[in-house]
Amino acid sequence: MFRVPGMSKLVARSTFSARFMVPRMPRPSITPIRWHGHVHKPKPGEELHVTFILKDGTQKEYEVCEGDSLLDIAQGHNLDMEGACGGSCACSTCHVIVDPDYYDALEEPDDDENDMLDLAYGLTETSRLGCQIKMNKDIDGIRVALPAMTRNVSNSDFE
Ligand code: FES
Repeated sequence: MFRVPGMSKLVARSTFSARFMVPRMPRPSITPIRWHGHVHKPKPGEELHVTFILKDGTQKEYEVCEGDSLLDIAQGHNLDMEGACGGSCACSTCHVIVDPDYYDALEEPDDDENDMLDLAYGLTETSRLGCQIKMNKDIDGIRVALPAMTRNVSNSDFE
């Protein structure tokens, strides 16, 4: 029989682990909800501001860090923004309608974002994808509305 030095110990160890391995349950989070979704509390003096207008008209204003995406901010504050593709610009469930006063301060959407926006429900002249908007000083105070509906593209859409 072919033997590799030390192999029997490895096999024995892995057999033991496989037999007695117990699946780990996810631990409940102990961090504040506002720190979820990859957002962090901004340092004093470095706060940027964003206001979300929810579907019922409620306005929620947050202090956020430069570089945070609107998707991360919304999810970090438990707002109703799905973000089905995780921010990879492959869905339109993070569709937001930007206040026209801020729209021109944003970078132009690239082709991928435009393609996804074409599939969004309720597309407007100032529609953008929340995952593609990163906070910076030029858009400090930006206001965005969450559309009444979003569309998640699925295979059935292409049949
Ligand atoms: S989360 Fe899918 S495109 Fe923004």
